Amino acid sequence: MQVLLIAAITANGQIAQNVAQSSLDWTSKEDKKFFSEKTKEVGVVIMGRKTFETIGRPLKDRKLIVLTEKPGEIMEGVEYVNKPVKELLDDLGVRGIARVVIGGGSNVYSTFLREGLVTDVYLTIESLLFGQGIPLASGFDRIDMSLAEVTRLGEGTVLLHYTIK
Ligand SMILES: NC(=O)c1ccc[n+]([C@@H]2O[C@H](COP(=O)([O-])OP(=O)(O)OC[C@H]3O[C@@H](n4cnc5c(N)ncnc54)[C@H](OP(=O)(O)O)[C@@H]3O)[C@@H](O)[C@H]2O)c1
Repeated sequence: MQVLLIAAITANGQIAQNVAQSSLDWTSKEDKKFFSEKTKEVGVVIMGRKTFETIGRPLKDRKLIVLTEKPGEIMEGVEYVNKPVKELLDDLGVRGIARVVIGGGSNVYSTFLREGLVTDVYLTIESLLFGQGIPLASGFDRIDMSLAEVTRLGEGTVLLHYTIK
């Protein structure tokens, strides 16, 4: 299974100022375009309930899986899952799915990284700093990566593609 972690980060490695903040508030149009194109190419996006709440709707032309222990309102076009992430990937494999995007947030990125399930990391670095907020990921010792590609997406935006060693 190819598991692509995709995130937009500030230059000091944060993904939001607070849990309610939508990434659309501060990311560039180039990053939004990259996220849209890459997730459509892969076809399946997995995210946590808190991130889904900042989006509030299904993702057009992509399967959206929302992790939650307590789905409240069920929205059409969203698959709600409550299980360990390794089990989720195994289930998707059985359904013939070979590639997924991990779309955040910090809790979900951290779980997939900690469990050694991520194969690729795509980080869009935007030209700003948050003095407080939510880090990309935490709760593991260290993970070594190889830098596969650097792309200047726009005036203030760089995209880094890493593979996990
Ligand atoms: N900049 C970016 O690229 C980017 C991308 C994504 C998100 N974000 C930001 O990240 C923030 C949210 O991140 P977060 O870490 O607070 O939350 P999160 O990872 O989005 O969601 C955490 C929630 O997911 C559910 N969950 C996680 N693993 C599960 C499992 N195995 N089984 C069942 N449920 C599971 C739980 O929901 P329940 O409590 O419902 O059980 C948990 O409370 C927002 O500010 C968002 O804008 C930024």
